[in-house]
Amino acid sequence: MFLKDELSIFQKNRPKSRNIWQKALEFLPGGISHNIRTFGLPIIGAFPVFINSALGPYLTDIDGIEYIDCWNGHFAMILGHNPPEVQEVIKKYLNYGWHFGTNTEYQVELAERVVKRNPGIEKIRFCTSGTEATMYATRLARAFTNKRLVAKAGLGWHGANDTLYYAVGSLNSDNYSPGLKTPKEAGILTFEINDDKIFDLIKNNKDDLAAIILEPVLGGGGGFQVEQDFLRRLREETEKHNILLIFDEVITGYRFTNALFQTDINIIPDLTTMGKIIGGGMPIGAIGGKKEIIERSSPEVENQVLIGGGTFSGYPLSMIAGLKTIEILDQSQKEYSRINKEGNTLLFNLNQYFSEEKLPLIARGYKSVIMLHALSKWIENPSLREIIEFKDKKREALLQLSLFNRNISGLHGLGSISMAHTQEHLEKIQEVVEEIAFPVSQSRFN
Ligand SMILES: Cc1ncc(COP(=O)(O)O)c(C=O)c1O
Repeated sequence: MFLKDELSIFQKNRPKSRNIWQKALEFLPGGISHNIRTFGLPIIGAFPVFINSALGPYLTDIDGIEYIDCWNGHFAMILGHNPPEVQEVIKKYLNYGWHFGTNTEYQVELAERVVKRNPGIEKIRFCTSGTEATMYATRLARAFTNKRLVAKAGLGWHGANDTLYYAVGSLNSDNYSPGLKTPKEAGILTFEINDDKIFDLIKNNKDDLAAIILEPVLGGGGGFQVEQDFLRRLREETEKHNILLIFDEVITGYRFTNALFQTDINIIPDLTTMGKIIGGGMPIGAIGGKKEIIERSSPEVENQVLIGGGTFSGYPLSMIAGLKTIEILDQSQKEYSRINKEGNTLLFNLNQYFSEEKLPLIARGYKSVIMLHALSKWIENPSLREIIEFKDKKREALLQLSLFNRNISGLHGLGSISMAHTQEHLEKIQEVVEEIAFPVSQSRFN
């Protein structure tokens, strides 16, 4: 009944989105240009909303419905949407033209900013997406170590490149797309975060293992924290065996302080991939790290490792928007502390509620990153493995739909808190999640 009512309200209020969705299905496979942007809704008979404007903590869809947005443009919009200072510089620089296909001084300035703030980044190369950055990082690692294998964290999302699109949404590397090489052919191994088996994997493959890549907090995989002790031990073991450690900081970079997460916790990898926040909401990717490794990509060196290219690499407006954003973030320590604290509180409160009511829902995340998982049954304090094993995609879709119906947009349940969210927004989010948690948990799906 709840499902039926929610579907009917959703559809009735969104005639324009419904029409565009029909057209989208005609011209785009699955109606989308990024898999997760269906919000999972078609599996329960709904459709995604189409957005046409955003401001601060809000998105507005083409039917005129306003949402408190927790998706924040795939975690990129930490200042909230359309922050006036960033908009202003973009407008100003638009006057000068927006794509030269040459070098700009802004790219040097952004590079300098990131390098000066993060001891692990001695040099940096810009590209257009995190997907490219992780692909290049692994290529560089293989070339630099002259070894073949790469180990990635199960559930880790590093973009859909051919190197790393394994064990996504799953802990198992055998879960991969048709068209890709087998993990064995691709030289990919997988491990579980916070599980000591990785240290055996390192020992057993040390002569052939070029790199280990992981996010210091699993983002797209579900907001799972990686213990700092685990990261520290990984650093020690990789160093011993000439294996490069790569942190994928596309989400965590500049998310919790005005620096990379590694700088904050003082665990410095060999290579780092970056994106999202450092582009201020414009397309960006970057790869940085130790000079002697990154320098191997320079056209000046013999036996250059070919990374980069890219018509839009170092895109001027991305550099400009990124610079302005970082400049603002440098003055935002208080705001970082606030959203970190409020994120932790929301996570705690939601889990406490789910647990007291024995509901098959669970919140996972770290500071301002908050994801919700819906399971097929209640499990007390479920492990990462249990969350993945008992994930109920239809229940998750209903959760997402019910949030939309109550003017909250999110993905992976919620996503993240931005500096544009106030205490009232967060109270509202908690109230709504608690309101729908029970009926969502009671719903049955055929
Ligand atoms: C940790 C991480 N790495 C890499 C990527 C890929 O970045 P992009 O979407 O810019 O290609 C993402 C994107 O969500 C990500 O979260």
